[in-house]
Amino acid sequence: MEFKNRDIISIKDFSREEILHIVKTAKKFIPFARGKKYSDVLKGKILTSLFFEPSTRTRLSFESAMHRLGGSVISVAEPTTSSVKKGETLSDTIRMADSYSDVIVLRHSQEGAARLAAEFAEHPVVNAGDGAGHHPTQCLLDLFTILSEKKKIDGLNIVLLGDLKYGRTVHSLAYALALFGANLTFVSPKTLEMPREVVKECKDVGIEPKSTTVLEKAIKDADVLYVTRIQKERFPDPEEYSRVASSYRVDLNLLSKAPKDMIIMHPLPRVAEIAPEVDKTPNAVYFKQAFNGIPVRMAILYLILRGE
Ligand code: CP
Repeated sequence: MEFKNRDIISIKDFSREEILHIVKTAKKFIPFARGKKYSDVLKGKILTSLFFEPSTRTRLSFESAMHRLGGSVISVAEPTTSSVKKGETLSDTIRMADSYSDVIVLRHSQEGAARLAAEFAEHPVVNAGDGAGHHPTQCLLDLFTILSEKKKIDGLNIVLLGDLKYGRTVHSLAYALALFGANLTFVSPKTLEMPREVVKECKDVGIEPKSTTVLEKAIKDADVLYVTRIQKERFPDPEEYSRVASSYRVDLNLLSKAPKDMIIMHPLPRVAEIAPEVDKTPNAVYFKQAFNGIPVRMAILYLILRGE
């Protein structure tokens, strides 16, 4: 297992054993993520945080992870304040970040941007979301959360709900859950179904996902309900968005039809797809899930920068 200097572009680049090693390493970082313990294991290392699309969790948790492990951060959180505004190409921007730091965390609107960036950088590039493509570190923290809450993934009934067409988190996650042997049900409006290539990837690792538009039926025996936002910003046609915007809402009434121990996850941000009344139920783990981003990203940074 070799992590040193490795790019993190797609979850498909990692084996089950490697994913479990990241999860195991992340567990050890929990007290550091909470600020209960301090480590300077990344002292002297600099992370460039390049976010060309909005983010709260991914950017802040990467930056928090780096600071809490003694490293430093330089960042472009708003593209209009960088020379991209003057027409600088992504490849030149990456060359600069590469010469100023030890690791680049990139969020970009174009699918494939992180893979391209990795070709121009000598240091590792971490994909923090590329358009409707992949979000591998979100996937890792989602797997970490399921393993923490349910102690296994194999054989669990997992429902992925919402915008399965444009939601990049579910593209990475569906494949990874299939790799770990979960039973998958995809619930979405007809126009936002899971892309065929993702369904094929699940089948290729031995899982035949079910698809439906009826949420009530899908959650009857669910262990995990993974909710996603309808990705308004990725719709070419605003009218198409308004037709599907309020397709599903998870509320207490819906929850009464699900198993008592079903957990509800969401990569966040949410808009209206989960009612605030659900937040206080023991089923809601989405804020815990967001916190898990810190130990998981600590583990990723530690493994690719230190290789231990
Ligand atoms: N889950 C996630 O990627 O959130 P942000 O867009 O806030 O980073």
